[in-house]
Amino acid sequence: MGSLEQEVARRRTFAIISHPDAGKTTLTEKLLLLGGAIRTAGAVKARKAKKFATSDWMELEKQRGISITSSVMQFEYNGYKINILDTPGHQDFSEDTYRTLMAVDSVVMVLDAAKGVEPQTIKLFKVCRDRGIPIFTFINKLDRQGKEPLELFEEIEDVLGIESCPVNYPIGMGPTFRGVYDRIRKEVELYDEKKEQTILPAEGPEEWRPALEGLTDAVTLDRLEEDLLLIEEAGNRFDLEKVKTGQQTPVFFGSAISGFGVPSFLKHFLQLAPPPSGRDSSAGRIEPTDANFSGFIFKIQANMNPAHRDRVAFLRICSGKFEKGMETWLDRTGKPVKLAQPQQFFADSREMVEEAYPGDIVGIYDPGVYQIGDALCGTKETFHFGKLPTFPPEHFAKVRAKTALKQKHFLKGIHQLAQEGAIQIYRTEHFGNYILGAVGRLQFDVFVFRMEGEYNVELDIEPLSFRLARWLVDREIPRDALRSTTNLVVFDAHDRPVILFENEFALNWFQQKNPEIRLAETAM
Ligand code: G4P
Repeated sequence: MGSLEQEVARRRTFAIISHPDAGKTTLTEKLLLLGGAIRTAGAVKARKAKKFATSDWMELEKQRGISITSSVMQFEYNGYKINILDTPGHQDFSEDTYRTLMAVDSVVMVLDAAKGVEPQTIKLFKVCRDRGIPIFTFINKLDRQGKEPLELFEEIEDVLGIESCPVNYPIGMGPTFRGVYDRIRKEVELYDEKKEQTILPAEGPEEWRPALEGLTDAVTLDRLEEDLLLIEEAGNRFDLEKVKTGQQTPVFFGSAISGFGVPSFLKHFLQLAPPPSGRDSSAGRIEPTDANFSGFIFKIQANMNPAHRDRVAFLRICSGKFEKGMETWLDRTGKPVKLAQPQQFFADSREMVEEAYPGDIVGIYDPGVYQIGDALCGTKETFHFGKLPTFPPEHFAKVRAKTALKQKHFLKGIHQLAQEGAIQIYRTEHFGNYILGAVGRLQFDVFVFRMEGEYNVELDIEPLSFRLARWLVDREIPRDALRSTTNLVVFDAHDRPVILFENEFALNWFQQKNPEIRLAETAM
């Protein structure tokens, strides 16, 4: 092992975000293959297969115990230590998906070349942008006919409001896709039918054109020459400072399924993406190279098997060196905690961790003492990194215990699970009914399952038609403005007033009528 400085400098901790089916799993798998972390394609896909009906999923979770290995994948590549954090998508899109983004140092955004920027990508992108996380774009499925690259740049800029700068540019598309031109290294990266890669240095068209004659038609080459010239003259200049602050996204093209463009993407990404950096805390800025150990919990995963009530808390290390058996202090309580059974995750297994460094994620056994956002420190003089934001739920449901006799268990359960971050709870203003809020529907199923299994309470759940929650920044309830049936005032777990709206239309209408009322999408 190197010094703390060296270990920090070689770490890259990132998440891959995308709309379902853009190719996140396929790209992840190709990166793991490149790093030698898995030997055959299909290993990651097999895990994804569990995401079908929720009942099947529950069964599977029960059988397998805690399925956490896919949450963090660590591997080495060219001297770098890479941590890929999985952002659950599809049916298990949840608050965890957003919270994971609080624990990364950069993000790879995968777009399907034919579909461009899609809704789930926009939601995840916004969270990254608000934190100023560097975002790298991989435009996927170039082996199929998609939108024109220039059109995609425009879409990224218009829809997401971020500057784009192509690092490489596709040579052809669909059946004529032959590879990419690397604008930074000034070389042509070609792929043949056997998926073998050839790299040819080529400063300009006079050098790459002869190399490509015969491989593709003159129209494709003319187009490539024109586009490259246009980007050079009218496109955004590559600016690493802007990339580091999330104001510009470097764009790459490729095909995850065939692996085209993936190795060069990884090389550039590792060079350009930042290692772990300092974080603000209640004790000032904490640098990763500070010798004093610190980290925070961004996710708690419950065991779906009621026979094993243990949970795993995911700790992102922020500073110092982590060593097995070390004593730490929990900032919220000031109490010492021995990190029992610390585990680290590899591509296809989990193992006891001996030591870990800033940027790494360690799974610690949670007997029920941790909360999302908790900080652990290496000395008694503890500090914290600030609360993780509450992310806007999109699904709401009224909930109560089936029998009134279970009310005590019911209240204990919903408060504990809300504290753990499994679900959000709200109270209605007049009758004190409980309303659940979730980012993804599966959170309701898991909640019902856990309330039965862990608190022995059967629930009645009634889905509500609200889709948006907005916090009232000034905390005053605008009674006169709230006569509509398409909104409802509730209070969150911290007694902050929130308005629920049925749709964007209802929200926009409300805002137009009441421009003086300040609404926030997330609560800190
Ligand atoms: P996700 O994790 O973002 O949801 O996407 P995933 O990787 O599962 O990919 C979604 C579908 O797109 C898969 O097809 C996958 O094979 C395909 N795909 C991924 N990358 C590429 C690419 O570069 N080119 C093309 N043409 N297709 C790609 P599927 O039919 O849903 O699954 P499968 O039967 O292929 O496994």
